[in-house]
Amino acid sequence: METERLLLLPWRAGDEWLIEPLATDPLVMRYITGGTPMTAEQIQGFVGRQAALYAELGLCRWRLQLKETGESIGFAGVGRLTGMEELEIGWWLAPVHWGKGYATEGGRAALRDAFERCGLPKVISITRPENTASQRVMQRLGLYYEGRRMHAGLEHVVYTATRDEWLTAELNRTGSGR
Ligand SMILES: CC(C)(COP(=O)(O)OP(=O)(O)OC[C@H]1O[C@@H](n2cnc3c(N)ncnc32)[C@H](O)[C@@H]1OP(=O)(O)O)[C@@H](O)C(=O)NCCC(=O)NCCS
Repeated sequence: METERLLLLPWRAGDEWLIEPLATDPLVMRYITGGTPMTAEQIQGFVGRQAALYAELGLCRWRLQLKETGESIGFAGVGRLTGMEELEIGWWLAPVHWGKGYATEGGRAALRDAFERCGLPKVISITRPENTASQRVMQRLGLYYEGRRMHAGLEHVVYTATRDEWLTAELNRTGSGR
């Protein structure tokens, strides 16, 4: 998929080096692992899960690549979380690319695709209550606050979007649905 500034690409075996700088950056991992870097095995697991989900459902936590430079800057898209029924949309960006709207741009394209092309009925997004930057992305994308849930032994806030409601709101927002 393509947006104004981004390509949204699937992951392939061997792409681990593209996510490794983020997965080992304590700033990026602050609200995900408490700042602990992911191991090489965990990074391989991440890439493997994205490739498997893409093969199964045609979507994943898309790799975001800047059109202008070809640089991989992180991901935005839907994935599975252990113990959760719904698919979850999430995003990680390299800190140098924060504050430019890339997570919102990639996340919006990923959410539209998940509803329109893949027909998911509902998508959730969860994060730690302290992660206000991620919650701002959720709000900009039109997800609404559902409540709190325990995940991995920690309290998380849950935001939700359902297909018909979200696509209708998006149509009203853009005038054309695009
Ligand atoms: C969560 C995360 C992706 C959010 O990044 P972000 O840069 O704040 O989000 P966006 O890319 O959507 O950028 C939006 C910001 O850029 C600004 N911006 C600048 N140009 C913009 C543009 N063209 N379009 C939209 N927003 C723009 C917005 O005002 C907004 O800033 P604000 O939130 O201070 O108002 C980032 O903090 C991150 O990678 N964190 C570590 C990983 C993480 O915790 N992920 C969530 C796990 S649950």
